[in-house]
Amino acid sequence: MLKVKNLKVGYGNVPVIFDLSFEVRQGEVVAIVGSNGAGKSTLLKTISGILRPSAGEILFCDKRIDNIPAYRIVEMGISHVPEGRQVFGKMSIKDNLMLGAYVLRSESEKAARLREVYELFPILRDRENQKAETLSGGEQQMLAIARGLMSNPRLLMVDEMSLGLAPFLVDRVMDTLKVIRNKVTVLLVEQKVQEALEIADRGYVLQNGRLAMEGSGAELLESDIVKKAYLGL
Ligand SMILES: Nc1ncnc2c1ncn2[C@@H]1O[C@H](COP(=O)(O)OP(=O)(O)O)[C@@H](O)[C@H]1O
Ligand SMILES: [Mg+2]
Repeated sequence: MLKVKNLKVGYGNVPVIFDLSFEVRQGEVVAIVGSNGAGKSTLLKTISGILRPSAGEILFCDKRIDNIPAYRIVEMGISHVPEGRQVFGKMSIKDNLMLGAYVLRSESEKAARLREVYELFPILRDRENQKAETLSGGEQQMLAIARGLMSNPRLLMVDEMSLGLAPFLVDRVMDTLKVIRNKVTVLLVEQKVQEALEIADRGYVLQNGRLAMEGSGAELLESDIVKKAYLGL
């Protein structure tokens, strides 16, 4: 579904991602794990068209997308849940969700989508008229993911869903991926290496803008690189 080939990205003259290639197949949950500064957010921003690569190709459903505008990429079916959630605290939960539906054409389509998302996340329905800032950190992350689903994407990209959450909440928020994984393909990037690899079908380890390793989530968790560099074992 998503193919990234020999990608290079930088800021000005400073390269951040070097010759990166990977793919995400339909129906998978793929995790790209790495430390702070490895280039994870830069990578997602490049896929969603916010940044432009200096070399390489990005294909989505066999079409080149590395030269088309971000809003068109959303319409094609890629949704990006940004780092830090970026929910609008003074707006209601429902209005936050409807912002994610702006690419849908008809009101009936939007209403149907809202019903579907509420079925996945009933707590959002129960509190739809409350301001988003009244939600806890974990619930706001759920809202951010739900908003990402409102455009009915084929690929959902989630940047650091665990960031700033208490440890017991990380697992709860990761569990929301189990709820959606039958409906949408997921690419997540994470610093919380263990939690991400436990839920992922496959993963890639990103170190300083380069791939250090790839494999199934279980293989990576068993690998010396991951154990030593990220799990403190
Ligand atoms: N807007 C920017 N301008 C210049 N350098 C940036 C910018 N954003 C990120 N960087 C640099 O790019 C590198 C990768 O950052 P980032 O993609 O945010 O990593 P991660 O998400 O893995 O923590 C870091 O060295 C960071 O300082
Ligand atoms: Mg980041």
